[in-house]
Amino acid sequence: MKRFVVGIVTISLILSSASASAHEGMWLPMLIKRLNITEMQANGLNLTAEELYDINNASIKDAIVSLGGFCTGEIISDQGLMLTNHHCGYDAIRSHSTVENDYLTDGFWAMTREEERTNPGLTAAILVRMEDVTDIVMAELKEDMTEAQRASKAKEIGDSLVTIATENTSYNGYMRSFFHNNEYYLFVFNTYKDVRLVGAPPSSVGKYGGDTDNWMWPRHTGDFSMFRIYADAEGNPSDMSPENVPLTPKHHLPVSLNGVQEGDFTMVFGFPGSTDRFLTSTGIEQAINLFNPTVVEIREQKLAIMKQAMDADDAVRIALASNYASTANYWKYFIGQTEQLKKNRVKAKKETIEATYLNWANADEGRSDYAGALDLLDEAYSLTDENVKSQVYLQEAGIRGASLPLYAYRLGRMLGALESSEELEDDKLSILQYAEDHFSEFQPDVDRKLAYALWSMWMENIPENQQPAIFAEVRDSMQGDLAALVNEVYDNSVYSSKAALESWMENMDFESLSDDMGGRVATSFIMTYFGVQRGNAEVREKMEKGYRLFTDGLRKAMPEKVFAPDANSTLRLTWGVVGSYDPQDAVHYDYITSIDGVMQKEDASNSEFVVPERLKTLYNAKDYGQYADENGDLIVNFISNNDITGGNSGSPVINGDGALIGTAFDGNWEAMSGDIFFEDKLQRTISVDIRYTLFIIDKYAGASHLIDEMTLVKKKKRRKRRK
Ligand code: ARG
Repeated sequence: MKRFVVGIVTISLILSSASASAHEGMWLPMLIKRLNITEMQANGLNLTAEELYDINNASIKDAIVSLGGFCTGEIISDQGLMLTNHHCGYDAIRSHSTVENDYLTDGFWAMTREEERTNPGLTAAILVRMEDVTDIVMAELKEDMTEAQRASKAKEIGDSLVTIATENTSYNGYMRSFFHNNEYYLFVFNTYKDVRLVGAPPSSVGKYGGDTDNWMWPRHTGDFSMFRIYADAEGNPSDMSPENVPLTPKHHLPVSLNGVQEGDFTMVFGFPGSTDRFLTSTGIEQAINLFNPTVVEIREQKLAIMKQAMDADDAVRIALASNYASTANYWKYFIGQTEQLKKNRVKAKKETIEATYLNWANADEGRSDYAGALDLLDEAYSLTDENVKSQVYLQEAGIRGASLPLYAYRLGRMLGALESSEELEDDKLSILQYAEDHFSEFQPDVDRKLAYALWSMWMENIPENQQPAIFAEVRDSMQGDLAALVNEVYDNSVYSSKAALESWMENMDFESLSDDMGGRVATSFIMTYFGVQRGNAEVREKMEKGYRLFTDGLRKAMPEKVFAPDANSTLRLTWGVVGSYDPQDAVHYDYITSIDGVMQKEDASNSEFVVPERLKTLYNAKDYGQYADENGDLIVNFISNNDITGGNSGSPVINGDGALIGTAFDGNWEAMSGDIFFEDKLQRTISVDIRYTLFIIDKYAGASHLIDEMTLVKKKKRRKRRK
């Protein structure tokens, strides 16, 4: 989830001088050679920078996949087999599940290629190359331009650079800004559109510990699932087709059976979504007091309503599983972030950094623009404080609350366009397809309850002049009876059922659309959204200019520190070491967990902690095969101090020799403030030990044909782990 406040910063170096144990930084692969390779090699990397990232020869980057733009995957066979998290494959697994064939509960394994399942809309993008285009863009951005003018100029240049880079190729691309519009890079991809589900463990393995253990260590979750990328016969991206064949990748990761020990080198390649490491102290205050608690209060309500319906009906449970899981994920995230921003005293740390910045800015008259940047930001925050809550309501209770309004908005535009359509039959087909997708998940009773509950909160908790106009109508012409509005929407709108749409299609009465209450609610929400956007132009100007100058100035004020850019869903590499930590006084957390802990947490009365029978049988027989460690234990998860965030889910954890040792899937509770300030001593990446993944595939699921595809590596002798 994206915070709406454009965020910003961090500097761990002020507080703890640069040391080999500080591992902040999501680095751009093309800059590794210049910025990081020496330190990485000194800490256990046995590869060259070219073996990590090269545009002329195969390198590790060729095995890294942006999965659907929301997660990461890694290719682990020469036949396009891809590994990612269970929670990344969750929606795909759900989409193939029914009450009779419940793959969420029981797991799914394709025993042949024919049994692999297609997933319309799911993509796998592999980076072809990236390029620093900062100079090209900056040459066109003039001092007297507003931030909005700069952005539109940059976009124009970016679009033409993408066109040039992709013309007459199978490629697609985009340009992104870095360091708050101070640098620009171009990215070119091959994006594959036929990505099939190969396997997934039952949720009692893949989601073991549920929301209770989410964002926590010690952890015992087999959070993995597998897909296969298909391409045309030449290996190029192609729409889904039975003619497609498994992709032969330029590179696939070998899989190590050697496991990890404290201090081992680790690197994580992936597509982290967003961090706010330059966020100012004022921004932190707004997050703690306004933004975060509002998200939490709305989601709490949403989750309670969904859970009640899901517990009562299996079909509803499956239909809403993915929506529920992602809602719960960031509900808990924002609780944790607020708690840890306070505990880790992040605001005070930022104030120290801001003081350093101001000293630098005030030391020279030529830096007056820089000197004003923090004031600009303070002004912007005080102007937004007043409507942060209403913006969160608009997002969380409106646009992503009940699902009907967004569907109504999108479908409404498609229906309206039919009036002047030149390809009526085709357009009608896409409309029916879109409706089909929507209604496969839509639960009318739950959605109605969500609408009533969330819109009530909205009417009650937000000043009337910041509410959508439709609520004024409820007060004025419906005697304040929100239920009357909700019933009209859910009983009579063309957007409330597939049947209603089909019957509209028969005579296509375009006039009826403007009176449709579902459509009117949607329009009212969206108009409020655009109104807020317009109203915010002045604030955005201050916010963007403030952060652009502050970020640039801070890098100049601290020339000894090598800053890494915030995450922005582009390919990054972060390196670190495996290591335990001390979450609080007198408490020590080991760096690995084992299957013993799975059994210790077992609670048959709690759906989050049910252990499947077959796993118990294997455990009782200690039947771990080649996946046991040197002590005969089966390791489940491990932690390292790599710097990751949402979007990195599914990322490979790679050892110093370039072999896969784990799959990253989470962060730890004590460092939930980490997207805003990296916590050197506390912050950890939680990963599934690859041997647990292989054990589940092989011993638990009997899908050993998948193991046979992989390139397994095992050293003969390994020191014994200290117990
Ligand atoms: N917190 C993890 C992330 O955002 C997701 C973990 C999914 N597991 C769960 N129990 N919800 O990447």
